[in-house]
Parts: sequence; structure tokens; C-alpha cells
Amino acid sequence: MEKKNIDWSNLGFGYIQTELRYVSCYKEGAWDEGTLTGDANVVLNECAGVLQYAQTIFEGLKAYTTDDGHIVAFRPDLNGERMEASARRLEMPVFSKERFVDAVTKVVSANAAYVPPYGSGATLYIRPYMFGVNSVIGVKPAEEYQFRIFCTPVGPYFKGGARPLTICVSDFDRAAPHGTGNIKAGLNYAMSLHPIVKAHREGFDENLYLDPGTRTKVEETGGANFLFVTKDGGIVTPKSDSILPSITRRSLMHVAREYLNLKVEEREVYLEEVKDFAECGLCGTAAVISPVGKIVDHGREICLPSGMTEMGPVTRKLYDTLTGIQMGRIEAPRGWIHVIE
Ligand code: PLP
Ligand code: COI
Repeated sequence: MEKKNIDWSNLGFGYIQTELRYVSCYKEGAWDEGTLTGDANVVLNECAGVLQYAQTIFEGLKAYTTDDGHIVAFRPDLNGERMEASARRLEMPVFSKERFVDAVTKVVSANAAYVPPYGSGATLYIRPYMFGVNSVIGVKPAEEYQFRIFCTPVGPYFKGGARPLTICVSDFDRAAPHGTGNIKAGLNYAMSLHPIVKAHREGFDENLYLDPGTRTKVEETGGANFLFVTKDGGIVTPKSDSILPSITRRSLMHVAREYLNLKVEEREVYLEEVKDFAECGLCGTAAVISPVGKIVDHGREICLPSGMTEMGPVTRKLYDTLTGIQMGRIEAPRGWIHVIE
């Protein structure tokens, strides 16, 4: 298979339309068998549930070319599981994780020419999503849905690659206590648009959101979980019911414990203790691990000792081990790598 003529190494995190995407429709209580289609457009009634009441959820995962030339996806079963949880919370029908993995496999395989080559620094970003399609005017769940997956080759999420980020403590909340912060609902991202535009206008790369109940604890950013490194080389990551359970973060906790022999704690992290950490990183599918150099809290600067020029040493080890596993250079724990072809 011949790869597309794309300047892989200079890709940003954007949308490039590929040839085929997957669609399955839910009607009269059942999903149809699903198919690949060349049509990238979705035509909806003006009163569709997704348009009126934002009944939409999504996932994000990546496919990689390994050093021995296979195309693989990283832990797609966990994305399928999380999407099942998101669907339940928004009263949407569950698209089973088994069918989810099968559909991911079909889409990636059908677009193999768009999977960036090994060593290019780019990856194939896979975007599964589901939304209510029939007309809904009273506030209630739709009765008909589409589950779709498209994919697009991407480069780094943050401009400048591994350059340490400067982030600010937001005055806005990304989630309510007992709300939808722990699922991947489009509405969580709609609410983050104003805060992120404001943060960018003020020269910051991202927002640090505090816990909505007390506004004293670190939650996450708009699109990634936090990992902190203590001065004695341990890993600390915030525990909260209102953050998205990141698959990257859960994988890194395992890598830290089992591959790097580090102490790992998942616990509440107060904003006040952040000044005592040695390193900070944002972790997620899109972010991988992006180092944070500075956190600004209403004019007070918290400068991480790892500095503003490169990743700290522990973050670097975590990054190298995780990407090594994803690209086949380091042996993966059982079940983490789903071989597509
Ligand atoms: N937190 C938020 C709000 C996200 O949107 C994402 C991205 O999916 C993550 C964390 C990271 O999750 P994952 O590692 O599963 O991609
Ligand atoms: C991902 O990392 O997959 C996400 O969905 C984050 C998003 C902000 C791009």
C-alpha cells in the first residue's frame, strides 16, 4: 500500500479528510450492522437532538506504525469501555466495546495510506462519536442515533512539540460536582471554549481547572490529566470524580510502577502544594505527555524546577517508555497493543 503524499513531520493537530469513515445507525431499539462510507458529511433535521440539546459524546485514540512496520492501536478496548459509560450517562444507547474495537479496526485498515510512517513524529488520530439524530423539542433523549468514526493524521497537539507549557489557573469550572466531568461529552468542551480563548489571548497555552466544589484542588486541563513528579522522584496524580479518567494517565501510572519502579500515588492535590513538585506534565492521547514549565495563579508564578527549555528527567523517562511501547520498541503489557495489520 502506497502512503499518501503528506508532509508528515510538519503536521499540526488538524483535520485532514481521509477516504473512508464508519457509520452505524440506531433505530427502533437496535444498531444496524454498520458500514464504511466515503461521504464525510452528515445531514440532519433542524430539530435533531444533538443540535438542540447537545446529546453527543466522543472518544479519541491513536494508531501508530511500529518499528517493524505493523499498524497498531493503543488500548482501544478502554476507549470503547469509556464510551459505554458516556452513553449511559447521557441516556444514549450503548455501542458495545467489542463492536467499537471492530469499527476502529475497519476504519484504520481502510485508511492505512494515511497512517503516518514510523519515525515521522505523526500518528493517526481516531475520532469515534455518537449523537442523537431524530427531532426532539421537549427536553428528552433522542430515539435515533448515529455512531461514527473518522480518522485524520496529526502531529503534536501543542505548537512547538515538547516545549514546556505555561498554563493559568482558570476562574471558570470545567465540570460541576456530580456533573459530567468524568465522561467524554461534547458539552464539557463547549463550556471550555470561552476559557481557552481567554487563556490564549492572555498568552497561556492551557487552563488549569480547580475542583468545582472547593476551588482549592487541581483537577485537569481542558483536554488532559495532570501528572506531577515529587522532588524525590515519585509520581502524584489528582484523584477526583469530576475529571475524565484518562487512558494515557492510567497507562503511565502502570509504566511508572512496573517499568520504572517509581512510587505512584493517586490522591487529592491541593493547588497550594504544586510549588513543591519538581515536574509537571499534561497527559492524554492528543497531548501524550506535554511538560508544564510554569503555572500562573492570578499573577503568582509557580515555576517548576524542570524549567522552560526541556522536559524534566522523570517526565522524559515516562514519555520515552510510553511511546516506546506504543511504537513497538519496548515490550507492551499484555493486551495494550491491538494489531490492525
Ligand atoms: N482529560 C480530558 C478533559 C480529555 O479531553 C482527555 C482526552 O481524551 C484526557 C483527559 C486524556 O484522556 P486519554 O488519555 O484517554 O486520551
Ligand atoms: C484526546 O486527547 O483524544 C482528546 O480528545 C483531547 C481533545 C482536547 C483533542
